[in-house]
Amino acid sequence: MKDIPTIAAMEKEYFKNPWDEKGFMDALFYYPGTFFAADLCGQIVGFVCAGIEDGGSTIYGHIMNIAVAPEFRGRGIGGRLIQRVEYECAVLGAGGLQLEVRVSNITAQRIYQKMGFSQVFLIGGYYPDGEDAIIMLKSFDYCE
Ligand SMILES: CC(C)(COP(=O)(O)OP(=O)(O)OC[C@H]1O[C@@H](n2cnc3c(N)ncnc32)[C@H](O)[C@@H]1OP(=O)(O)O)[C@@H](O)C(=O)NCCC(=O)NCCS
Repeated sequence: MKDIPTIAAMEKEYFKNPWDEKGFMDALFYYPGTFFAADLCGQIVGFVCAGIEDGGSTIYGHIMNIAVAPEFRGRGIGGRLIQRVEYECAVLGAGGLQLEVRVSNITAQRIYQKMGFSQVFLIGGYYPDGEDAIIMLKSFDYCE
């Protein structure tokens, strides 16, 4: 909980429509087991918040927010955060992990593709500024 102000400050710097501290506190309250911060020698350099959505017959993990500080990107930190969340979601019985990404955020889309996510559909005007979102999904087909 002590890292929330740092995480909210990072969020404000990196995103157009940032979550505030309350948004992160709510994520921590509702989904404490799928909220992780990357700590490098005492410095918070990244974070991920995910939730679990129970649709009755299917349970899915949902990455709601993820970022790594620009100077630490491309070093495997974001990938490890995603793997950590994936593990927790699988333990909680999820069949996969989904996320939304801006159509303009090509770098993140490529990274997610490399991490095993596929584009499944588009939601028009998803973001507050009217930009469309691409929904990406990674199924946990461990038995294949
Ligand atoms: C998306 C983000 C969290 C990824 O974090 P990261 O630490 O840079 O990612 P990693 O270095 O762990 O890379 C993960 C994988 O993508 C690959 N990758 C990294 N940068 C890449 C790029 N620019 N293009 C294509 N692939 C890339 C890596 O090689 C790695 O694959 P590997 O495990 O097979 O080697 C980070 O770029 C970020 O904070 N972006 C700004 C905020 C943002 O857009 N958040 C997502 C909102 S939906």
